[in-house]
Amino acid sequence: MNLRDDNVSEETKTLISSLPTDEDSQGKLCQYQGCWYYYNTLQAVINFQTNFQPQDTDIVLASFPKSGTTWLKALSIAILERAKHHSNDPLIHPLLSDNPHRIVPFFEIDMYLQTATPDLTKFSTSTPRLFSTHMPLHTMKEGLMESPCKVVYLCRNVKDALISRWYFRCKYQNKEVAGSILESMFESFCKGVSFYGPFWDHALSYWSGSLENPKQVLFMRYEELKSEPYVQVKRLAEFMGYPFTKEEEESGLVNKIVELCSLSNLSGLEVNKTGKTWMNVDYDSYFRKGEVGDWKNYLTPEMENKIDMIIEEKLKGSGLRL
Ligand code: A3P
Repeated sequence: MNLRDDNVSEETKTLISSLPTDEDSQGKLCQYQGCWYYYNTLQAVINFQTNFQPQDTDIVLASFPKSGTTWLKALSIAILERAKHHSNDPLIHPLLSDNPHRIVPFFEIDMYLQTATPDLTKFSTSTPRLFSTHMPLHTMKEGLMESPCKVVYLCRNVKDALISRWYFRCKYQNKEVAGSILESMFESFCKGVSFYGPFWDHALSYWSGSLENPKQVLFMRYEELKSEPYVQVKRLAEFMGYPFTKEEEESGLVNKIVELCSLSNLSGLEVNKTGKTWMNVDYDSYFRKGEVGDWKNYLTPEMENKIDMIIEEKLKGSGLRL
């Protein structure tokens, strides 16, 4: 993962000099439109906002990092592929030979990181086009302009997302999974100063968007995908505009897609065991336990209490639970 500030234009450097800044073990951060980015990611966000040409049929998959993005991508691909081939067999599609992150690129991590004007045909080959992002909704909307394209947000318990990020970061940085690293990440999380943070503002942007315009923004939860995958996959397909027919349901297609996209199945595929992203991140780092409540194995009661109080305070009156 390239988190350095190469590729940052003089104009963006001037902008950064006027923004709040901070630093973590991976690099320098700045706060733009309320969200914290590494400098080169900010450049990519600006490239996207300035140059992306949306199509009305585009679908954007959004999430806070480590909230199950890989899973959401896999499910969305499987839903579209089965519609495209009019086939009852979800096994005929690219998930078997490619990682979901390569099939559904991130605006600011893949497409616009190295150039302001990427050739989009090289990135998204599906119809409709599927893209993804970790930007909050208000920032992403500047790139979507007035496009009516659909946005799916996957939200996850903040404590589980934190533990997942801790493991991911240690693996990426080739470090032992140490408690001291978790403690420092925990403090940054609570301050809101972490990559794509504050978490609460991120979730709130999509929550409000889904209330204001439920036909354009779908708010999903990782925990619900785990507890009732059948219902949630149907909900996702319907929102995307590719609902399952009665015949498809009766043929067991929804369950086949759930099984195809399960953590155990995806993580066992050769491509996901041995492949890497273009930034050299092993695909297998995107698959770990996939459990709800794993944070209980790592956070102290004091940490739990602190983060719960912050979230309660930040979400007061919004109707959102995290
Ligand atoms: P854990 O680290 O808690 O196991 P992201 O895809 O946003 O990077 O999130 C990664 C998290 O989603 C990891 O959580 C990973 O194990 C989990 N995950 C990945 N694929 C999954 C799947 N198919 N089903 C359920 N969880 C999955």
